[in-house]
Amino acid sequence: MPQFTPIVLEIETFREKLDIRGKDAIGDVLAAAGGLLVVRGLHELANNPDEFLRISQRFGPEVENVRQTLTAERFFHDTVPELMVLSNLPPCQHPPPPRPEPAHTPDGALVVSYPHQTNWHTDQSYRRPPPDITLLYAITTPPPDQGQTLFADCTAAFNALPSEVKQQIETLDGIHAMSWIGRRAQDVRTGVQPKPLLPHQKPQRQPLVRVHPVTGQRSLYLCDSGQMDFVDGPIAELQPGLKGDGALLIDMLMRHVTQPQFVYAHEWHPGDLVIGDNRCLLHAATWYDADTHPRLLWRTTVRGNPGLEYADEARSWIPKDGTALMSGMENT
Ligand SMILES: [Fe+2]
Repeated sequence: MPQFTPIVLEIETFREKLDIRGKDAIGDVLAAAGGLLVVRGLHELANNPDEFLRISQRFGPEVENVRQTLTAERFFHDTVPELMVLSNLPPCQHPPPPRPEPAHTPDGALVVSYPHQTNWHTDQSYRRPPPDITLLYAITTPPPDQGQTLFADCTAAFNALPSEVKQQIETLDGIHAMSWIGRRAQDVRTGVQPKPLLPHQKPQRQPLVRVHPVTGQRSLYLCDSGQMDFVDGPIAELQPGLKGDGALLIDMLMRHVTQPQFVYAHEWHPGDLVIGDNRCLLHAATWYDADTHPRLLWRTTVRGNPGLEYADEARSWIPKDGTALMSGMENT
């Protein structure tokens, strides 16, 4: 099986594809890339957040306002409401995930597979419909052998499953939950009490197998134990809890989808733009030495084409009464 790698576009080609009007040329490239595009050397974007926003707008119907997506204020950009700031610097002060032990295989490769590497997720899957595409742009980065972002190809991983497993999971729903509401596997294991939630903050069911609206291909859609509900789930139709059949299935699928042949590790350099399709990829940030190295990335999410499973559905994360806060919660 070939190793999962992105399409890397030269800046000129990227600009040409973006500029073709009346045809979703860049969307076609992203689909052909299996959902992962890389453009390097876009240094001028660091001084032009509006341009990053304009690029994001070419990837779908709506670039989301971060202030309305269950995101804490410390991730907000000063002037552009659609930009999320990911950084270990204040005011964001977002810490990296722990370093796996061991961090490397005996032949020196980065350890990427679950459960040694944690934090595998698809962005904000606790909202329904979930966001389609994430754009990440690097301004300040640690050395490239730290703080990589890993991407897993959930389409190839689905296709590689035995047919009886494909059949078993075809109609199941995962239950996805924010990591800070006391429903992760580790919360249940350590006796943390689930937080009371407003209706728009509640965990959401998502199909375990999604059909991509552009390619028509099936993909696994799940997160690791940090972004699924281990109180009522993680699989709606199966026995709940840490030792239930649902937890066993998630564990098996997470180990499967994060095998090295399905995973690309992006080593960041300033000026890199990475575009990932959440409908068919998982991703995970990796450890870096945050005491020594500053890291600053911008992120946007694009929504509006989640596929037939979500046709005409209202946004789960928007309070119906218009009064409850949509932000101000802790984020991952
Ligand atoms: Fe993410």
